[in-house]
Amino acid sequence: MLKLMLKPRNLIQPEDFSVEEIDQILSLSQNIIENPSKYSRVCEGKLLATLFYEPSTRTRLSFEAAMFDLGGNVLTVSDANSSSASKGESVADTAKTVSCYADIIAMRHPKEGAPLVASMNASIPVINAGDGGHNHPTQTLADLLTIKREMGRLDNLTVGFCGDLKFGRTVHSLITALRRYENIKFVLISPNELKLPTYVKESLKKDNFEIVETTDLEEVMPELDVLYMTRIQRERFDSFDEYERLKDSYVLTVDKMNAAKQTMRVLHPLPRVNEISVKVDDDPRAAYFRQALNGKYMRMALILKLLKEAEEGKQMPPLGDVRINELVCDNPRCISSTEQE
Ligand code: CP
Repeated sequence: MLKLMLKPRNLIQPEDFSVEEIDQILSLSQNIIENPSKYSRVCEGKLLATLFYEPSTRTRLSFEAAMFDLGGNVLTVSDANSSSASKGESVADTAKTVSCYADIIAMRHPKEGAPLVASMNASIPVINAGDGGHNHPTQTLADLLTIKREMGRLDNLTVGFCGDLKFGRTVHSLITALRRYENIKFVLISPNELKLPTYVKESLKKDNFEIVETTDLEEVMPELDVLYMTRIQRERFDSFDEYERLKDSYVLTVDKMNAAKQTMRVLHPLPRVNEISVKVDDDPRAAYFRQALNGKYMRMALILKLLKEAEEGKQMPPLGDVRINELVCDNPRCISSTEQE
């Protein structure tokens, strides 16, 4: 049994921060952008451990660049095969061990719930850097910072999500975050096989959000303020044939961009495969590489916030006793299927 005691604050899912806290992180990110030298030594003597058991370019490197730009240092596991996870070490034991060496952890894991288990066992803050098809809260913060900087607001927006809405954890996390702002309309564009999970849709409907669901990107293009493109996630498919059939469902081209508002912005968490033509990159409305840069500034702000709160002794509320492997979960990708007591 994992007996939970008071723990430092973590970021496991977007709702872990209040709207006010998110606003503070976005403001701090903007301040870092405008005054980088002011922050260049604030994390001297601090260590970030990046534990990445799934491939990554942007998230791991932007976390590491963020810590270096704050004057801190980094320990990294960039491949599960190079760590004792390959010998069967549990996430819980890994978290306890890394707490002996580092001040803060960023973890990416293919098993859903793994960063939560790490946070329950670590004595230092844990940041979820993406867990299976669940959540990717730091991508969400980068997305929010990008929308705020590009559009000047986070409310009164029609946001289109296009592509793999079933497995896309960035989509699930961003919808969860955006629903806390006023007057957001969600336009869900996907093949029938890759629709947004029913539980997310039902929850939006229950709270009276306006939702449009369609398979046709061109039809809805003129009404969008933000188009959030996503890749069809090959690694989440059980059938390669099914992936091959669906992988080119949407390709954003210059022609399609012609139907969009001049103020519309295209975001994409990246990596891109071929769902956005490279010719679209030259359109000033293509914000996805600015979004990747914003991710570094936002992660600087996030590291600062969590380290400061840990130093001040700010803690998560006690959750009581939880038995991870007694949770009833029929999801084969859930960490509860492998983690030991
Ligand atoms: N957006 C994102 O998570 O990219 P990486 O997989 O390269 O980290």
